[in-house]
Amino acid sequence: MPFLKIATLGEPVLRERSREVTAEELVSPDVQTFIDDLIATMRDADGAGLAAPQVFNPIRVCAIEVRGNNPRYPYKPAIPLTVLVNPVLTPLSDEQFENEEGCLSVNDLRGAVQRFAHIRVQGLDRHGVAVDFEARGLTAGTYQHEVDHLDGKVFVDRVTDPATLSTWKNWERHRKATFVERATAIVARFGQ
Ligand code: NI
Repeated sequence: MPFLKIATLGEPVLRERSREVTAEELVSPDVQTFIDDLIATMRDADGAGLAAPQVFNPIRVCAIEVRGNNPRYPYKPAIPLTVLVNPVLTPLSDEQFENEEGCLSVNDLRGAVQRFAHIRVQGLDRHGVAVDFEARGLTAGTYQHEVDHLDGKVFVDRVTDPATLSTWKNWERHRKATFVERATAIVARFGQ
């Protein structure tokens, strides 16, 4: 299974609004093979998610998965493999929390962004079956990060205080302990 090349910041494909996938396209061998490759690429890169435009395919498809002890995000609760097609997110309350995010398309940078704490996720799974569920806390943040990619947005656009931007090494040194404490409280509260 080939790994796909990941687009990094500055690639125009990361700034487009990706297009919806039709039902006919979704069941085609091309798109099904692409989804397999997207998942393999996400796993190989230790991502918590990967959106199709991040691998130069501007269609509204993303994969999300957090397995135990992800080396990039060890504090994230597990999320079973989820492929979303044409997703729509709706906040279910005004409450937001501060997340500290990184991205496979943004080399060696993390920063603090506000994310909705409780959202509704609607769309299709990879087989075209409608999905409709709720997500909370850090898991809700992961969905918002991936769906942003489908709208041409990258987490750095949402960083309100540039002083929170940090290389991964410096994040480990100076911000990790405080953030993990906050993240643990969020996980305790939302259970995900
Ligand atoms: Ni990303």
